[in-house]
Amino acid sequence: MSKKFYITTPIYYVNARPHIGHTYTTIACDTVARRQRMMGYDTYFLTGTDEHGQKIERAAQAAGKTPQQLTDEVSGEFRALWDRMKLSYDDYIRTTSDRHKEGVQTLWRQLRDKGHIYKGSYSGQYCVYDELYVDVVGPGAPCPECGRPTETVQEENYFFKLSAFQEQLLELYTQQPDFIRPETRRNEVISFVRSGLRDLSVSRSTFKWGIPVPDDPGHVIYVWLDALANYITALGYGQADDAKYKKYWPADVHMIGKEIVRFHCVYWPAFLLAAGLPLPKSIVAHGWLLFEENKMSKSRGNIVRSETILDVLGADALRYFLLREIVFGQDGSFSFDALVQRYNSDLANGLGNLASRTLTMISRYFKGEVPYPSATAKNASDDAIAEAARKTIADFHANFAQYQFSRALETAWGLVAAVDKYIVENEPWALGEKQDEGSRTRLATVLYTAAEALRIVTALAHPVMPEATGKIWTQLGLGNIRELNLHELQWGQLKLGTRLGEVQAVFPRADKSAIERMQKMEEQGRAPVAESKPEENKTAETKSEDKPKAVAKPAAVAPEGKITIDDFAKIDLRVAQVKVAEKVPNADKLLRLEVDLGYETRQIVAGIAEAYAPEALVGRKVVIVANLAPRKLRGLESNGMIVAASLEGGKPVLAAFLEEVPLGARLK
Ligand code: ME8
Ligand code: MG
Repeated sequence: MSKKFYITTPIYYVNARPHIGHTYTTIACDTVARRQRMMGYDTYFLTGTDEHGQKIERAAQAAGKTPQQLTDEVSGEFRALWDRMKLSYDDYIRTTSDRHKEGVQTLWRQLRDKGHIYKGSYSGQYCVYDELYVDVVGPGAPCPECGRPTETVQEENYFFKLSAFQEQLLELYTQQPDFIRPETRRNEVISFVRSGLRDLSVSRSTFKWGIPVPDDPGHVIYVWLDALANYITALGYGQADDAKYKKYWPADVHMIGKEIVRFHCVYWPAFLLAAGLPLPKSIVAHGWLLFEENKMSKSRGNIVRSETILDVLGADALRYFLLREIVFGQDGSFSFDALVQRYNSDLANGLGNLASRTLTMISRYFKGEVPYPSATAKNASDDAIAEAARKTIADFHANFAQYQFSRALETAWGLVAAVDKYIVENEPWALGEKQDEGSRTRLATVLYTAAEALRIVTALAHPVMPEATGKIWTQLGLGNIRELNLHELQWGQLKLGTRLGEVQAVFPRADKSAIERMQKMEEQGRAPVAESKPEENKTAETKSEDKPKAVAKPAAVAPEGKITIDDFAKIDLRVAQVKVAEKVPNADKLLRLEVDLGYETRQIVAGIAEAYAPEALVGRKVVIVANLAPRKLRGLESNGMIVAASLEGGKPVLAAFLEEVPLGARLK
């Protein structure tokens, strides 16, 4: 049986929409998971959402929703984004699911029965934003982590005997130096634990949105105990079927952002030690994505949405940029300028250009079949490339194993640059003009060398850019890249006579307008997300109803006035059923609808009140644009648009089907 590998992302809070900070961690994990699969590991990749606690309860209140409505909605958004990016997660855990609750309650009982939980009374400060008990004094004292005012909590709580684990934890950090990475984070944790641990309050009784404490339902379990347990409950821990838990636990890597190190490196191992369960092998913390010098965060309102970049440059560009540009472990800045510059230099002009020039010449001079290098036509420059490629493979693997994505990619792109130079110096186009035997064999050698280096970079980069590299692989005539065993990748495996596929550009150059387009989309998209008071957006009038504001201009080229099939594919049209319909107060044209997509329920505000009575709509199947950026109408968030024919005078007639269609079915 092959070796297993279990990797997790943090589970994201559902109090706000996903942004590229979340995407960063998730694609880093996706990349590692893909690579481990290619290295022959039986890999399990988990992500999901963190849905309980006071912060979420309040966010729901503020949005005029029940916590369950809000969590269903936002959890669905995270998942839809990961699906749109084709991330290879194996499971998606939601902390409001029954399986998770069952597992958490089992863990609680385990801790309690082993004598690590006792009842006491807590009096102190709590930061709702961080869901953290903090050691500051006085009502409203600022949280030492985030600076927000804390709240005074005074209630009877259950406590976990964290203080009893101080020595065991310190021993763990010493005996397993790789338990916390990088070193800076490890040092912080060690000094935090050395400074002394107090018992931790692990239940709350003054609000309801959480998992009830077993046998004492007046309390809910502290949201971090609930959340951390996802890493085992998702595998079936504490449930009838725990085969996956037995197979995959302990985790090989919990990947997280640096602000949640304490929870993962102190609380989590302490809970596990107390319950007598195995500890994760390592916790890897990365730095923050900054935007305009500040941490990108929903509360600052300086977020960048992944969708904007996906619309204009695609998922591979975003993945490559984040992993190449930011030194993993350190903070790094995001900007659209830097993104487009990297895209053009490394992808359009770098890998993309190497692929198209090499493959085009093989098509032209060798009828689309890979020529073989001839020993007699070899010279030192060919050997240098082969040698550079061998070294690249080794360095790439070594850096990747240390999560040094940017260095790994830098190494691989060093090979791209070397081959570019090699091509220029060897002038295959000049050799191609000559018919003598010497020129032909030399040309064969040069093109083989270039193609083989291209194959190696493509294979190495596959986990980072699955789609584009898959295309290059097919163009190289090598079939499905997923079948490649990366472990066995070596120079010289490209076979003589391999028939190339159809050669096409993989990374079309982005022009300056791409930057403006993305900036504009963000400005338009940001307003409704950042606002907290619904009144602020009152100007959104009914007439803008059928004109989505943030539709991306196509990146691919199409004749003036036309769109490509790819452009059309960006519009996610789906069948949904109206569950709730009601008039929006003081808005004659607007109806508030809740529609069911089968996989999630959405609120949509539609300007159809003059044509349809609300009660006539309930139960009716409609077509919606499911991936329209959310916006607010009369203070209500609208998540999608209902499609209708627009008759004279603007009267809408809803699109419908003659046959039965399942919910969520896509129109294409
Ligand atoms: O902390 N830069 O959830 P969360 C880099 N629910 N990474 C970022 C980022 C940024 N600007 N913003 C977010 C929680 N992230 C808890 C976790 S786990 C048992 C519970 C990423 O929604 C990064 O991985 O605040 C960070 O740790 C995580 O999102 C926090 O997401
Ligand atoms: Mg956070």
